[in-house]
Amino acid sequence: MDIKDRVLKLMLNNRRTHKQYQYTVPSPYTYPYQWFWDSCFHAIILSHLDINAAKKELLSSVSKQFENGMIPHMIYWEKFSSTDFPVIEWGKKDTSAITQPPLIATSVLKIYESDRDKEFLKKIYLNLKNFYNYLLRERDPRGNHLIGIINPDESGEDNSPRFDKVLGLSPKHSLDVSFQRRLELFAKLIECRFELSHCMRYFFWVKDVPFNVITVKGLEDLSKIAKELGNFEDEAYFLHHAHLIKQTMRKLMLEDGIFYSTYDKDYKKIRVKTWAIFAPMFAQIYTYDEAKYLVNEYLLNKERFLRPFLIPSVPKDEPSYDPRGPIRGIAKLLSTHISWRGPVWMAINWFVYHGLKNYGFLNLAKEVSRSSLELIEKEGFRELYNCETGEGIGSEDFTWGGLVLDMEA
Ligand code: GLC
Repeated sequence: MDIKDRVLKLMLNNRRTHKQYQYTVPSPYTYPYQWFWDSCFHAIILSHLDINAAKKELLSSVSKQFENGMIPHMIYWEKFSSTDFPVIEWGKKDTSAITQPPLIATSVLKIYESDRDKEFLKKIYLNLKNFYNYLLRERDPRGNHLIGIINPDESGEDNSPRFDKVLGLSPKHSLDVSFQRRLELFAKLIECRFELSHCMRYFFWVKDVPFNVITVKGLEDLSKIAKELGNFEDEAYFLHHAHLIKQTMRKLMLEDGIFYSTYDKDYKKIRVKTWAIFAPMFAQIYTYDEAKYLVNEYLLNKERFLRPFLIPSVPKDEPSYDPRGPIRGIAKLLSTHISWRGPVWMAINWFVYHGLKNYGFLNLAKEVSRSSLELIEKEGFRELYNCETGEGIGSEDFTWGGLVLDMEA
């Protein structure tokens, strides 16, 4: 079976419907719900396979949008009592109370570019506008032009070492401890009665690099969508905000050629290197010379990111580096195997692949795509992979490998 057929089979196997809604579960075994940025990836994958399914996926992902514009990162269309995934108290009925990286406008534009269906744009435009306005308003309440997240899980990289310092964790700790800290933050959000700028920000308020990069790209793409709909005021407005965030990222996050996430009112830099140092290439925030330096010094460096399988989420020379992640059994609360502390994740490969292409590093982009395909050939569609041995880890029949369809080899 060729790769396109294999991905189609996987996506159909993981497809679920609920009343008029259709969505895809990331893995039938450990992730039986709908996740927001996963749905954005699914829409990109499905844009190569079945454009109507891609649209349905996004329409269901926005269907539980909060009144203030936030799109929750999880929707429990059905609750499973026997699932491996722990039931978390969110203070909401059938959704979580946090969000995930705002990739949705980029996914919508990608769909539109393949069939030019303006009706779909019209149908989803208000959801997009309300969501990005929510981020600009509630996640940047003082108008500083950087977007804050209130929990590591909002980054999509639940236990990334970028968040260790703010959570008071050392570079080596068990998944249980990290999960416990994040659960405490979920509980704080309920205690804060979902009030962010006067309450929640005292517990966790990180300006994360990939989240801001994805916001910039999302705002630029939303601006293009507004233009297609003849809404020139919105076109200018969203583009202007993308520009302001880009400018501020350069001013407050860039140091010696690298963007770092920041925290606290005075924008303290979190000087931990992860794949996030490449993320700004996705929205062309580095200059060409900066990107070239970064690729040579870090991506092509055997002591850092150049491992047998690309791309490690954390480079080899970081104290938190662990190519495999915690072994099953250590994590008592989570039966899954999540680790953003070294293993390869296909979403990272997709972001970096497109970032490399933006700067014309085509051979290297191809190498990322080739390594991704090799991992799938070798181990199947797994949640993550050991970057030293290629061994598949975590959930099986995990959808993100489908992103290879959006990375030409
Ligand atoms: C894990 C990942 C997160 C993803 C979720 C569902 O929690 O860290 O990014 O959205 O699984 O796949």
